[in-house]
Amino acid sequence: MYHYTLHQRITRICEQQGLLLNGDDLGFYTRLCANATAIDSLYRSLYNHHLASDALFERLLLTLIQGHQQRNRELRKRDTEKAAKGQWFLSNEICGMSLYVDRFCGKLNDLPTRLPYLESLGVNFLHIMPIFESPAGESDGGYAVSDFRKVDTRFGTIDDLRAVQKLMQEKEMYLMLDIVLNHTSHHHEWAVKAKKGDPVYQDYFYMYDDRTLPDQFDATMPEIFPESAPGSFTWNKEAGKWVMTVFHNYQWDLNYTNPAVLVDMLDNILFYANLGVDILRIDAPAFIWKQLGTTCQNLPEAHTILRLIRQCVEVAAPGMALLGEAIVAPKEIMKYFGTDLYTAKECDVAYNATQMALQWDALATGDTRVMLAAQQDLLQKPFGCTWISYTRCHDDIGLGYDDSMITAAGFNAYEHRKFLKEYYSGTHPASTASGALFSVNPKTQDARISGSLASLCGLERAIAANDEQAINIAIRKILLMQAQSIFLGGIPMLFYGDEAAYTNDYSYLNDEGKSYDNRWMHRPVIDWQKNEKTKEAGTIEHRIFSGTQRLLKLRKQLPVVGDYKNIRWITPHNIHVAGFIRSMDESHLYCLFNFSNKAAYLTWYAFKEQGYGISNLYDHWNEQRLTVGSDHEYLIIEPYSFCLLESGSY
Ligand code: GLC
Repeated sequence: MYHYTLHQRITRICEQQGLLLNGDDLGFYTRLCANATAIDSLYRSLYNHHLASDALFERLLLTLIQGHQQRNRELRKRDTEKAAKGQWFLSNEICGMSLYVDRFCGKLNDLPTRLPYLESLGVNFLHIMPIFESPAGESDGGYAVSDFRKVDTRFGTIDDLRAVQKLMQEKEMYLMLDIVLNHTSHHHEWAVKAKKGDPVYQDYFYMYDDRTLPDQFDATMPEIFPESAPGSFTWNKEAGKWVMTVFHNYQWDLNYTNPAVLVDMLDNILFYANLGVDILRIDAPAFIWKQLGTTCQNLPEAHTILRLIRQCVEVAAPGMALLGEAIVAPKEIMKYFGTDLYTAKECDVAYNATQMALQWDALATGDTRVMLAAQQDLLQKPFGCTWISYTRCHDDIGLGYDDSMITAAGFNAYEHRKFLKEYYSGTHPASTASGALFSVNPKTQDARISGSLASLCGLERAIAANDEQAINIAIRKILLMQAQSIFLGGIPMLFYGDEAAYTNDYSYLNDEGKSYDNRWMHRPVIDWQKNEKTKEAGTIEHRIFSGTQRLLKLRKQLPVVGDYKNIRWITPHNIHVAGFIRSMDESHLYCLFNFSNKAAYLTWYAFKEQGYGISNLYDHWNEQRLTVGSDHEYLIIEPYSFCLLESGSY
């Protein structure tokens, strides 16, 4: 329904703020009016009963207007260019890398000299891990932010960040930064005021005088870091209160039932948008709404907040896409793309955490059936949204996919997970991996896995044993894992160091601020002398770097790999082989991955059953032409190898 009064209100505020409604600001004004009903109704569904609801709605509108006013010409121009490309982030031409500035190169000022290295690899999209102020020793890798606007001196200044962004823009590279939406550091100004007893800021957090409510919450809230931060509350002596701290005890959960929190965080979001962020990574969105008696994860109100943020960003910074970092059960992940009327109108991007974990599953078992069983759910992703496709990131690997997927593949879920945990922590006799269990929960036996791509693929042990054959196998595994995630669909996101064979770094154990968190073992400090070896043919570094480089290059050459809901999994003619077809018009790319330690035989019938009438194929990876044989003949794929076969008249 059209809201005349809302329209009038918007017009009045815009005019008061000096906007040129028939000039420069017409686009913004039109977007605001067009989205106003949705923004208003999403907002009211959460905050109608709040005493300051209306006043804070006015502040929300002002925040949008100011966000727009602070958006520079260059960024507005980019918004228009991106709009002309449709959903620009679906393209096959975007390849990302996630990195810690300090561990990668030092300071923000040093990043420009390292960009050519990334460009030569084929990376044109950077996820710069958190760089805003965060107390040393209590930083959770920067995810405990004490000032959302101040770059931590460890990395440089906000002007350094602006300079990096400008340079990246000139080079046509995209930028991703985080907004840590769920919590702040206990040193954040709001938390400091709350500790001192200021009731306005105590209402920014969940604070309780005694254990009554915390006990009730704890009864149903799963623990996130059961070893290092058990429970979800921390006693704060200064305030004399229990504070909700779902993650570490120094990360205070923000109270989004208070609309002032939402409006202030929206202001921060638009601040990042106006720094030139192309994709904003919303950290831990599954946790932003709490309700007694629930797990306090994935609640409908959390989605309402994300939708509200999405519509607001669309108005004030339309070129910025949103990534929801929801590492939750497969069916829940999908909801972050939006449901019902908001389908494809919530987060534009989400991590394909299920697929990532399933690749590790297949690599350990040599069996791809669990991966295949999961695809029915994963293919529900709406058109216009995309995945971050990855093998490793700064976090652990969770085995949170559904038991039903494991059972559908014929395994016992408990035993299967037990095997995977033993395999990747290196305790299973058949394992070649060096990793560790992360966040073991003694009550539930749940555990996740830490370890670098190379170490989990067996390179660390192979090098220690000086075993040439084992090194070759590890390299094959690394490229197999990367290849599948690069060709699957979605934005490939490499993790720095993985392109240059970095194995686990155990030095974190000597640092008090890190030793309690074994995720640091896979967050390397780059040694540029080692990275120089990526240029020396024959070295392990070169073999992995050049393989990854080739994969990214091929991806950019093949528009069929863009994420346009153009993927179809092939039926399993061989349980060791995961295979899918990427299609666009008459072009079909068969991507086949052998997760077994033996050569895999795949009947040629697998290429015929879709009825595409294919007779010739070109394998882009192995650079050979193939003729489709009879049904009783086979394509042979070497152990831990893959083929990228394009159909055509070769
Ligand atoms: C996200 C981050 C993780 C962090 C957590 C709490 O999951 O990826 O590193 O520990 O949020 O902020």
